[in-house]
Amino acid sequence: MINEMHKVFAQIFGTDSTPEAFFAPGRVNLIGEHTDHEGGFVFPCAIDFGIYALAAKRPDNKLCMYSLNFDKDYNSPFEILLDDVHENLNINRSWVNYPLGVVSVLKSHGYKFNSGINILYAGNLPDGAGLSSSAAIEVLTAKIFSELESFNIDGVTAAKFSQEAENNFVGMHCGIMDQFAVSMGKKNHAVLLNCSSLEYSYAPLELGSCRIIITNSNVPHSLVGSEYNLRRQQCEAALADIQRVKDIKCLCDLTLDELDEYSYLVSESVNLKRAHHAVSENARAVRASQALRSGNLKTFGRLMNASHVSLRDNYEVTVPELDILAKLAWNMPGVIGSRMTGGGFGGCTVSIVEESAVKNFIESIGADYEKLTGRKAAFYTTGSRDGAGRI
Ligand code: GLA
Repeated sequence: MINEMHKVFAQIFGTDSTPEAFFAPGRVNLIGEHTDHEGGFVFPCAIDFGIYALAAKRPDNKLCMYSLNFDKDYNSPFEILLDDVHENLNINRSWVNYPLGVVSVLKSHGYKFNSGINILYAGNLPDGAGLSSSAAIEVLTAKIFSELESFNIDGVTAAKFSQEAENNFVGMHCGIMDQFAVSMGKKNHAVLLNCSSLEYSYAPLELGSCRIIITNSNVPHSLVGSEYNLRRQQCEAALADIQRVKDIKCLCDLTLDELDEYSYLVSESVNLKRAHHAVSENARAVRASQALRSGNLKTFGRLMNASHVSLRDNYEVTVPELDILAKLAWNMPGVIGSRMTGGGFGGCTVSIVEESAVKNFIESIGADYEKLTGRKAAFYTTGSRDGAGRI
């Protein structure tokens, strides 16, 4: 991929400068879904698929960017003066809004650019599959600017800036999980992140003879401005109701018993269901990470399954295709656990599968899924890797 990119870079941007290579992985969340925006725990890892970039400084003050994935209809890069990047831009070559968002956030934090930059992006992350291609391009851009301009932005700050870009520039009110996993992932480990304090620890991803399989339902997920933001509002409403009596900062400050005790305060039953998901999922994420650390994969798998049930019945962010994929997996020998992963409304499931059962998993779930939905699923086997940076 990189060799091919070097050729294209020279064609598009000329040969005056030698670009440097960067990579940002996507992420898969093992458990702890829709808890990040409620101040809870998440347990994701960075995956083998991601986005590569070649970048070099320019002698002027222009940012010039080209994507091999999204710019097939354009024969020249997108160009903008760095001085002209600000929060209210909305460019219809839509992918550029992600890197522009990061540039805008860097400027708002007082970073000054000494020169322009040429960037070529190319990735192997399926788009719209909920594996964090947007976080990957954001964090990648933050790392490129940090390295080429010697800003020395650390990984946690790069994640925060990228989330800010997504919230304020793209308009998706996501939590910090995706950007954090992409920036701070560690090879052969999952990250247990407390999204309230941003304290984190790495848990060895010791899966023995098992593999992580991501199954793409090929139902494109669309989150921006829609159901995702609505779920957040419903959680906020439940929190505000409970805060009338109980001094808490976020829903995940509550145990399940406490939520039960104060449930009479929540005025809408749908909001209580959302809160129930967040609080129970937070407890599951903690238990699951402990189970993994003590080598208890069976418990880990059952908690993954329970997470799916709660996302289906209480948070209501699965779609029939994801439910079908999860159920097919639950009924298959050699599957430790399976659940939808990411924001929902389409996208992927993540399953832990015995290596000896992987072939059968892919063949028979692939066939049954197509029979039941008319869609073809795609399967990816992944390890976990380090977060974004120079390669
Ligand atoms: C999306 C968001 C994340 C997180 C997940 C659900 O991926 O970007 O912040 O909320 O959904 O866990």
